[in-house]
Amino acid sequence: MTELLCVNDLSVAYKGMPVLKHAVFSMKEKEIVCIVGESGSGKSTLIRTILGLLPAGGRYISGDIVFQGNHLLHYTQEEWRRVRGKRMAMIFQDSGSYLNPIRKVGSQYIESIRTHFKLSKKTAYNRAVQLLSNMKLDDPDRVMNAYPCQLSGGMRQRVSIAMAMAMEPELLLADEPTSALDVITQAQVMKQLLQLRDTFGTGIIMVTHNMAVAAHMADKIGVMKDGKIVEWGNAESMIDSPKHNYTMKLLTDVPELEGKDIVRSAHP
Ligand SMILES: Nc1ncnc2c1ncn2[C@@H]1O[C@H](COP(=O)(O)OP(=O)(O)O)[C@@H](O)[C@H]1O
Ligand SMILES: [Mg+2]
Repeated sequence: MTELLCVNDLSVAYKGMPVLKHAVFSMKEKEIVCIVGESGSGKSTLIRTILGLLPAGGRYISGDIVFQGNHLLHYTQEEWRRVRGKRMAMIFQDSGSYLNPIRKVGSQYIESIRTHFKLSKKTAYNRAVQLLSNMKLDDPDRVMNAYPCQLSGGMRQRVSIAMAMAMEPELLLADEPTSALDVITQAQVMKQLLQLRDTFGTGIIMVTHNMAVAAHMADKIGVMKDGKIVEWGNAESMIDSPKHNYTMKLLTDVPELEGKDIVRSAHP
């Protein structure tokens, strides 16, 4: 398997305060990486830096990000436009709120598919409906015909996850994509993410607060604390023999029931 993403000595600061400190890791194609760690440890900053989307006040200090041999930090706006959204797709905790409120879901979804794939409207529609029903949206035709405000927050979030999946990306960056969803729906989304990887070879970096989900999904786990990746390695060996005290603590604090429910429902 070839290298998909390499992050080297990456450091980022907000208003002079370092929040990401010398991050180093790499992942291969088709791998699933889960990033875990307490709130404020720099997980979202890491994801946003990889996407070239640091918020105002955030400043890149040092390091390199190489995506399939290309140095992302040297990308022009035009190069980013071609990569972001399609080859590198993203989902955030509140992705659903980025849907255009004045257009029906279906027209946004079909347009997004047809911007990247040469498909008829009918085929794009069918593809969208399929992905929506994979997201446990019961009446996908109704969802396609609705305005975002006519759907619940959880439904909008599932629409946006389905839209990201339609891109068949090479890398999907997901920042706590399901934390606002109920446990059964979370399990379904996790199952679909695994399927996305298996079908299209999508590599995934997912931030999660749930160590049980990480254990179930990840090939590799990265543990973050105070802006540093304090432990990085194969999921199985990290869970069997964590090296860092903080990883041990995370493993003993696993939200047992919640995690087991998610893992169990993902494998009915
Ligand atoms: N836009 C911002 N402006 C200033 N500080 C920020 C901003 N975003 C995040 N931070 C700070 O950077 C640190 C890391 O935040 P973040 O990457 O969001 O962590 P996590 O996703 O692990 O909760 C925190 O101390 C946070 O307060
Ligand atoms: Mg975050």
